[in-house]
Amino acid sequence: MTNRPELPAEIARRRTFAIISHPDAGKTTLTEKFLLYGGAIQMAGQVRAKGEARRTRSDFMQMEKDRGISVSASAMSFDFEKYRFNLVDTPGHSDFSEDTYRTLTAVDAAVMVIDGAKGVESQTQKLFEVCRLRDLPILTFCNKMDRESRDTFEIIDEIQENLAIDVTPASWPIGVGREFIGCYDILRDKLELMDRADRNKISESIQISGLDDPKLAEHVPAHLLEKFLEEIEMAKELLPTLDPEALLNGSMTPIWFGSAMNSFGVKELMDGLATYGPEPQIQSAQPRNIAPEETKVAGFVFKVQANMDPKHRDRVAFVRLASGHFQRGMKLTHVRSKKQMAISNPVLFLAADRELAEEAWAGDIIGIPNHGQLRIGDTLTEGEEIRVSGIPSFAPELLQACRAGDPMKAKHLEKALMQFAEEGAAKVFKPTFGSGFIVGVVGALQFEVLASRIEMEYGLPVRFEQSQFTSARWVSGGKDAIDKFANANKQHIATDNDGDTVFLTRLQWDIDRVGRDYPDVELTATKEMM
Ligand code: G4P
Repeated sequence: MTNRPELPAEIARRRTFAIISHPDAGKTTLTEKFLLYGGAIQMAGQVRAKGEARRTRSDFMQMEKDRGISVSASAMSFDFEKYRFNLVDTPGHSDFSEDTYRTLTAVDAAVMVIDGAKGVESQTQKLFEVCRLRDLPILTFCNKMDRESRDTFEIIDEIQENLAIDVTPASWPIGVGREFIGCYDILRDKLELMDRADRNKISESIQISGLDDPKLAEHVPAHLLEKFLEEIEMAKELLPTLDPEALLNGSMTPIWFGSAMNSFGVKELMDGLATYGPEPQIQSAQPRNIAPEETKVAGFVFKVQANMDPKHRDRVAFVRLASGHFQRGMKLTHVRSKKQMAISNPVLFLAADRELAEEAWAGDIIGIPNHGQLRIGDTLTEGEEIRVSGIPSFAPELLQACRAGDPMKAKHLEKALMQFAEEGAAKVFKPTFGSGFIVGVVGALQFEVLASRIEMEYGLPVRFEQSQFTSARWVSGGKDAIDKFANANKQHIATDNDGDTVFLTRLQWDIDRVGRDYPDVELTATKEMM
């Protein structure tokens, strides 16, 4: 953080972040309110309504509607005061951890939403761990304060203990449940009062001067005021004050209390993200890292989504710009193939619509429509051979054999499966022995999602069946060692969609045996995508 050059203003004003939460904590509602204050939508509720009506955005799948989960992630850009916010949506369901992981490689910060009555839930914990791996700065929003919630100290303690991070209150709730009237804004010495009558109204904000300001008593009923003053005294003694540096290195999280549904506390959170949140950060890459202020453009694909609009068979690669000032029509080098690509139709995802991106800066997310050249992990540059690192692919936890309902359609099936593999929706393995494909996913629900998408998007009924294998590991080592190993274990060998060698088995014992018998090769459960 220190000794960095000052960023060009256009880059410095960007805040690229994701929201992490347990399902039902209020991520969707908070996103809507962000967009509302960002002026991107006129009325809250539009995100959901439009999704249902048009099926072109992240809600485009029937399954998603049926199950109420967010199957695919997307990006939304909007302005807030002098800042440009890029919100990258993380899929909420625990089945989609790999997709989520990669999404988090494209952001500089995360907003963690917790339910004030439930505290830190399992999915929040998991996602938090992923953020921790990258030391991502985290801002916390404790939601649903309009309902019965836990004691404020208890919530803060739970976060500190379960997540091993320092917590500093940015605001302090006054009253609980029905008696909740609002918060004291600790950072700006203000009293924020919630309007229960109008959910979309920004709360009333009263500037005060310190906790002994008589204005407090004018607005806060005596019994609530007494308890509040007691608590805030204690908080001052027991809890750390905001240390911006600690926030930026991920060791401290400020917490705001509010109610997304009542539009309460949201604006303060956005202000916090704008004021204390990180500017676009240095991207780790090989052979050298990429700094956002570099004048040459570089970016990387962290997500591919096919058939976003079922009417047009397009495929959109979501690219996080790591450096420079991108302009439409630029020619960029696709580092993996060393080919030039003219980026003539890049899109920006503005709230409810896609728009042509005339320009974009480091920190922004642009969508590049393509025919499959762009894969997850790919780097685009103005010619230099740099590859962004740290985008992993995980060995799937579940394997099934996949067959086309009509055996004559095997070629079509291969095409469909390869497309989903490139999207990162599944791992596809082609065994060297026998026919058919083995498909690997992280959660069982994904088999259903795949089957329904293959049928919907390719008109191809498919069956998933039990496979003789349950585990897959990538084989790494020198070429000769891999060939020798593959020859001796033909029954277990397959290639993945990148052509890399994979060892399939149903026994952990087999994996251990390889470790002993073939010291020249290594079986790994992750592969770096680059
Ligand atoms: P998610 O994306 O994290 O899964 O959560 P979502 O925003 O969908 O919110 C989950 C439920 O919690 C929704 O209720 C939502 O209205 C409610 N909720 C969100 N914020 C608040 C809040 O500040 N206070 C209260 N009391 N409730 C809140 P639902 O009944 O599942 O859906 P809906 O019928 O309201 O859309």
